[in-house]
Amino acid sequence: MSGTIKRIAVLTSGGDAPGMNAAIRAVVRSCAYHKLECVGIYRGLQGLIEGDFEVLNARSVKNIINRGGTFLKSARSKEFRTKEGRQTAYNNLKHAGIDAMVVIGGDGTFTGANIFIQEFDFPIVGLPGTIDNDINGTDYSIGYDTALNTVVEAIDKIRDTANSHNRLFMIEVMGRDAGDIALNAGIGAGAEEILIPEEEMGREKLLASLRRSKKSGKTSSIVVVAEGDQIGKNIFGLADYIQEHMDEYEVKVTVLGHIQRGGSPSCYDRVLASRLGIGAIDALLRGERDVMIGISHKKVVSVPFIEAIKGENEIDIELIRVADITSI
Ligand code: F6P
Repeated sequence: MSGTIKRIAVLTSGGDAPGMNAAIRAVVRSCAYHKLECVGIYRGLQGLIEGDFEVLNARSVKNIINRGGTFLKSARSKEFRTKEGRQTAYNNLKHAGIDAMVVIGGDGTFTGANIFIQEFDFPIVGLPGTIDNDINGTDYSIGYDTALNTVVEAIDKIRDTANSHNRLFMIEVMGRDAGDIALNAGIGAGAEEILIPEEEMGREKLLASLRRSKKSGKTSSIVVVAEGDQIGKNIFGLADYIQEHMDEYEVKVTVLGHIQRGGSPSCYDRVLASRLGIGAIDALLRGERDVMIGISHKKVVSVPFIEAIKGENEIDIELIRVADITSI
């Protein structure tokens, strides 16, 4: 099988994540190591449809291991969801003499890749690149650790001002369908309450708990809310509700937003991205073609795309217990 692969494309797709550059670098350099040609595709699956390709060599990826974002740029392609779009993408790959592809992205990217493989029998291997950490079969996704550190640093700063003014801060973090960022950053930043999509707390329970902690002698409070949490219509509506029912605190809202996606990747993300990038080329050379390369119990593993994208995000209930006890 390895003999038939001579030219490999790499792209980043969906929401960018710190460490994507390190992953591209590892893919490109692994190609160089194995004497394979590597082609970078700009703007993800959309660039694939538009034929936005450039040959990359080991020096093309110098000085990027420390850089956030993705130098190949990223996009969310509506056209790739159409049969015509995917046919054009396939024609472009064939025309460029590309034998296999590495896609770095999240759930949406893997879903698109999986459909493409079924339609065209084209070898694709994926790397989990998303700050959300909502991919099954890998303990961590590239960018998640950096995002956690960014969130904790921001909340530490908010805590200073919250405490100086005896205020309650509601802080929204990213995670459309997943509470991993909220839960872990919430524990790390010592939040009083953490609201996640996987566990519905209810407004009354939240109020009761905030009142209890105020009574116990706390002078300020931090409530971390995952973007996808359904407790209120949105974080501003929920803040209004709390303010109406709780005059012990002045309630403020901070939405951290896209600051969580930027910045220089942490060492953990750089090493993870490097290992998974090498793992992707190894997998293609072994003849694998429909898998994500992830990390499980410290080992690089191959997970069928269908496993990686299936089902709902699972939260470790031990973490919820830790959050409950440490915020008492
Ligand atoms: O999937 C990663 C993510 O950062 C989510 O946490 C967030 O909901 C979404 O992307 C935001 O996407 P966009 O940048 O397209 O608004």
